[in-house]
Amino acid sequence: MCGIVGYLGQKNTKEILLNGLKELEYRGYDSAGIAVLSDGEFSSFKAVGKLINLEEKTKNFTTEGFAAGIGHTRWATHGKPTELNAHPQVGHNSYVVHNGIIENYAELKKELLEEGVVFLSQTDTEVIVHQFEKNLQNTSNAFEAFKQTISELQGAYAILLITKSEEKTIFFAKNGSPMLTGINAENEKYFASSDTPLIGECSEVNYFEDGDYGYVTQNDLVIYSKNNVKKEPSFTKLPINKLSAQKEGYRFFMEKEIYEQSSVIADTLLGRLSENKVLFDELDYNFFEGIKEIKLCACGTSYHTALCASYMFERDAKIKTSVEVASEFRYRSPIMSKDTLFVVISQSGETADTLETLKIAKKAGLKTLVICNVDNSSMVRIADRAILTRAGIEKGVASTKAFATQVTVFWMLSLYVAQIKKSLSQQEIEKQIALLRNVPASVHVEDTMHERIKRLSKRYLHGHGFFFIGRDIFFPLALEGALKLKEISYLHAEGYPSGEMKHGPIALADPELFTIALLPQNLLYEKAKSNVEELSARDSTICAISPVIFDKADDFIQTQVREHYMLEFFEMMVVVQLLSLEISIRLGNDVDMPRNLAKSVTVE
Ligand code: AGP
Repeated sequence: MCGIVGYLGQKNTKEILLNGLKELEYRGYDSAGIAVLSDGEFSSFKAVGKLINLEEKTKNFTTEGFAAGIGHTRWATHGKPTELNAHPQVGHNSYVVHNGIIENYAELKKELLEEGVVFLSQTDTEVIVHQFEKNLQNTSNAFEAFKQTISELQGAYAILLITKSEEKTIFFAKNGSPMLTGINAENEKYFASSDTPLIGECSEVNYFEDGDYGYVTQNDLVIYSKNNVKKEPSFTKLPINKLSAQKEGYRFFMEKEIYEQSSVIADTLLGRLSENKVLFDELDYNFFEGIKEIKLCACGTSYHTALCASYMFERDAKIKTSVEVASEFRYRSPIMSKDTLFVVISQSGETADTLETLKIAKKAGLKTLVICNVDNSSMVRIADRAILTRAGIEKGVASTKAFATQVTVFWMLSLYVAQIKKSLSQQEIEKQIALLRNVPASVHVEDTMHERIKRLSKRYLHGHGFFFIGRDIFFPLALEGALKLKEISYLHAEGYPSGEMKHGPIALADPELFTIALLPQNLLYEKAKSNVEELSARDSTICAISPVIFDKADDFIQTQVREHYMLEFFEMMVVVQLLSLEISIRLGNDVDMPRNLAKSVTVE
């Protein structure tokens, strides 16, 4: 969600900015822009839609020699996705890019309007540049004006600002939204929202802390902390090679990522299983000392993982577990006790709501753990312990392999806690370890299965909605199936516990209401089957997914007979992912970058 890049140096500034923005495309955006200050002159370009539109606009623009440049991909929050609302936002002599939300922008804007400032956009960001120029009138020092401006902003932000009044400088500030800076061998400075644009450009980077602000010039990187104390950068090494994801013949990244699940889950398991034990280098048994309860907090798909985890923790580890949607948790004055382990789950490690809950838990003195896919992300840096899911870069906005690896980690983690609490017999632990080794095979996509789903998908392009239903841990999988379909097909879909249908939702049942029923053989089969029969009796159109032939369904996707319900879970996960994918493709949607969505939701 919104991506920022910046560069100060001698190289081809335009190219560096555009390449950097390309690396941030996966975050989701609806417009983009750049501004370059060179030889005392600004050049700025903005375009709505994909980056290719911005490339087209800048095709006759060349940058040579020393320049300061900033770029941005915008995911609209205040004001529609138009060129005027795209960043960089402009004042008289300055340009700014911003990721986040300025919460007090209305008050600042009101004052500025009263003073005669003319606003061109509907964005909250525009106040930053005008406020800066207002402050600059009272001081000859651009940094003082910038510092004053930052102190007047409330909310979340990562900001880069360039100004004619201090030409060879980029000013920066970070609070709540991610940003890092890198320096190359020639002492040139780079900025970005995540490390991917900087890989290959710089070998070392400094991740800014919340409250950091400062500036870079040709020779200096000056950082102040939120207490206005000058601080030294803390550099960490970046990998040398970009692991940039390519589609490799698949139609969409999402499709490729579904197919990759088998190998990434194998990576997730790597080194974490012995014959008789689950091992986590990241943890030790002492970490769980005094822990009586686990609280899981996340958003979206990661929240569905949390729900899955709660079934596993309570069933296997026999530990009390609760699950919270992060955006709710952070404002509901929750009671927190120190015998609770606070676990956040996030593919990106940057989701604003989840990050905030982690900070709240830390402040309350709870032990914290993050299950995350991105090393060095904000959550990984803040939590006491981190377990990386090793899914590799996930480009599709609709999460697939990240979910698969998260659930795998929690299966292992529940056994790990069971080892500590001795809540399962050694024999049961060994049995489940053997099952875990079969997960990569259970998510392997068979051609025949994919073909069948592709053919079936044409019958599910209309109707007035979908119910995804399942029992027990298949309920969060039903929620996840419905979310996948909603995200990329824009069709209405809901996930329900199968047993809940008769308490209201069944009123909607008719032939145009499609029910996707998860019917595992090894978990509550008869109960779930009865619930589906109730829907079938009301003429709902049923697509059953099960290894057991079910003749009351209109459509039937037969999965393999497996020895444990978790292996059925993983296979059915692939089925619902493929079904959403094929429906979305038939509807002609942008599968990887669905409308209105962003990969990394860094605003609340
Ligand atoms: C998944 O398909 C979604 N795009 C979304 O729900 C996502 O899972 C959510 O925004 C949380 O993201 P995170 O895992 O990066 O924290």
